Formats: sequence, C-alpha cells, structure tokens
Amino acid sequence: MQAIQRVLTGITTTGTPHLGNYLGALKPAVAASQQASTDSFYFLADYHALIKCQDPQTVHRSGREIAAIWLALGLDTDKATFYRQSDIPEIPQLAWFLTCMTAKGMMNRSHAYKASVDDNQRQSNADLDQGISMGLYSYPILMAADILMFNAHKIPVGKDQIQHIEMCRDIAMRFNHTYGEHFVLPKAMVDEGDAKVLSGLDGRKMSKSYGNIIPLFAPTDELRNLIAQITTNSLQPGEVKDPDTCTLFEIYSAFATHEETLLMRQAYANGIGWGDMKGQLFEYLNDYLSPARKRYEEIITDPVYIESELQKGASKARAHSEPFMQRLRSAVGIMSLVSDMGAKSAGGKVKKELSQEEQVKVDAGKAKAMAIAKQRAEHDTQQLKMRVDELINTINASSDPKGAGEAALLDLRTQADSAKKKAKKNLQQIVGLLEQRLTS
Ligand code: TRP
Repeated sequence: MQAIQRVLTGITTTGTPHLGNYLGALKPAVAASQQASTDSFYFLADYHALIKCQDPQTVHRSGREIAAIWLALGLDTDKATFYRQSDIPEIPQLAWFLTCMTAKGMMNRSHAYKASVDDNQRQSNADLDQGISMGLYSYPILMAADILMFNAHKIPVGKDQIQHIEMCRDIAMRFNHTYGEHFVLPKAMVDEGDAKVLSGLDGRKMSKSYGNIIPLFAPTDELRNLIAQITTNSLQPGEVKDPDTCTLFEIYSAFATHEETLLMRQAYANGIGWGDMKGQLFEYLNDYLSPARKRYEEIITDPVYIESELQKGASKARAHSEPFMQRLRSAVGIMSLVSDMGAKSAGGKVKKELSQEEQVKVDAGKAKAMAIAKQRAEHDTQQLKMRVDELINTINASSDPKGAGEAALLDLRTQADSAKKKAKKNLQQIVGLLEQRLTS
C-alpha cells in the first residue's frame, strides 16, 4: 500500500480569488483532498496577510470570504484539515526557533525581498530597503514554520513559491542537524502539465496586480459585463478566427469538456461573431459556476457556520501541533526544570525524568485530553443555549410574557440555590443567559 502523503498549502487572505486561482489552485486542491492516499492540510494564511495589508477590515473580511469559497467548493472538512493559521499558536513559536536556524545571507537572496529592493533601485531611492518590513523580509521563515509544524511531504504552490520551499528544506536540515531528526523535508509540487496560466480581460496573465481579473463568484450581471470587456481583434462575423490566440476561447476551453471545445473550435472556423462568442462564454460560465456561487452566498451570510468549521479544523490541527511543539521545545532545551511540574509522588520525591519519547507520549495524551474537554465544554454550552431557547419560546407563547419571564427566573434561582456543584453552575448560567435574553 502506498504510504499516506501529507499535502499542505496556505492561501494568503488578501484579495478576491479569480477564475485563474480557481483552475490553478482551488479546484485541484479540493479534488486532491478527496483521495484516500492524501492527508490534506489547507489553511488561511492570515498572518501572511498582514505583510501586504494593514487594513484590519480588509484582513478580516478576506478571511471570511476565502473560507466561504473553500466551503462552497465542497471541501470535505471531515477528511481535510481546514484551519486558520492564527488559531495555531505553535506556528509563530516555531517560526522563532526556525529564525534562529536561518542564515541571514540566505534571506538576502529571497526573490520577494530582492524584487522590492530592485523596485527601490529603479526608482533611484537612496535607501534600497525603503518600505520593506521585516515581515516581508522574513516571511519565508513563517512559511517554513507553516509547513514543518505539520511535517508535510508535498506543498502545492505556484512557481513563484518554489524558492521558499527550498529555503524551508534548508532550514529544516539545519534544525535536524543541530537538534536531531524532527522534520520531514518537504517537496514543492508545481503543476506544469496542461494547467497553463489563464489570461485576463486584457489578454495578459489574469492577476490582481494587472486589474484584469474575473472574480470566481462575480454576480451574474458583473460576470456578463466583465466578459463583454475581454479584448478581441476587429474581425467581423463570418470571418474565420484563430481560437489559439483568443482569450475568449482560452477561458471557454479551460472549463468546457473536450467535445465542447472541439465544437467551439469549429465555430471559430465558421466565423462565429465576437458578440455571439461572448454570449456563449457567459452562458457557459454562469451555468458552471452558479451552483457553487449559490452555496457561497448562503455560507457567507452565516459566519457562525464558517467559524465552527474553522474551529473544528483548529482542534484537529492542534492535536498535532501541541504535542509536536512540546517535543521541539524539549529538543532545543526549553522545558520545565522538573520533567512534570507539580506531579510529585506522595513521598515528596520528584518523579523520574522521562525520556524524550515518553515525554512525547505523555504530552500527546494531555493534548488529547484537553481537546476532549474542550469539545465537552462546547457541547455543554450548546445544550444550555438550547434550554434557554426553549424557555424563551414558552415564555413568549404565554399570555403574559413579562410575568412568565419573571416567574421562570425566580423558579430557576430557587432551584439553583438548592442544587449542587455542576447542576448549580448550569442553573446559574441558564439564569444569566435568560436574563440577558429577556432584557435585550
Ligand atoms: N506564501 C504563499 C503564497 O503567497 C502562501 C503560503 C503561506 C503558503 N504559507 C504557506 C503556501 C505554506 C504553501 C505552504 O502563495
């Protein structure tokens, strides 16, 4: 049997995903997550977003939109682990360990950093580092932490990110060499094959920086308008046209089946008019995208659902990251002075020191117990809320809601006074919640 491969990738939460992102990254990722031989980790890279975007509202909104897009495209969050980077506190902790293992000289060679230096040079800025934050400079280290935290094998990325995966390997090797074998060395997975980059409205590569994108879930009217703007040449209806240099055809064939594409090729030979072609492309894309767009519109208005999905993912991710971080902390020498603080035996003797392996097991057990306790607490809160909902319904249905509300509160308080421990606490919480609801 083929060993399970862990595939991990991050999506920086800035900007609006477009058709090119869908074909190049989203669609293949959702498909890959359905394979039994892969264990997919997909996350919203919101710490990375802070490098490019300092507008809190945009950062917040993009996170929600991008999460909703993944869910609308049918990502199975029971199979894949889908989480938000900032919900995993071990990632920035690891980033620091890795920072201390990273050669500054290597970071000086980072493409993203060098591109900004080049810009300054072109603009004849005296300070070549002008406008460059340490976030931009060192983000490949944060990216390495994202990857190494989960010991992922394969990292699907665009070509521009290959260097970062190389850096990640370099950093992992240095850490392993210094502290022992803790990290898997990841490989970049770059889709070359037939998935060529999609062109945008003006015929250049579809990219936010060119302002030529078609957003994945553009509403119908916007979609029609954008398609109408796609650049064509001045050939008239009836004149033979070349599909292979035409953006309309390119986008059509990226979505259509092989047979449909062949038919369209024939239509070009028969001299289809540009207006007609634009109409057909619009109809095709609109039909193709509308089921997912409808789901998106439902999901985006339900932040509670999105948040609960992300919390589910965070619990799954932290079941790995917590014990693994404990192990890494011990590996670098950061740990309690006694192996298990407070766990003294009856005789007052300090428990024997655990081996690293034993410690990892103990920590994994603790993390699991914590995760279970957290789940229980969430469940309990849910139950309480349901009871309050029921009470509210009964109160509202009575002829005198105000009196019924007061009576219910009085009754609950009396019960709470005589109840014990957990029951008492529950009743007190119900009283609190009910009071809030009745006064709001
Ligand atoms: N930097 C990546 C990008 O801009 C996003 C990203 C962040 C990422 N962390 C990652 C990709 C880890 C793969 C693995 O596209």
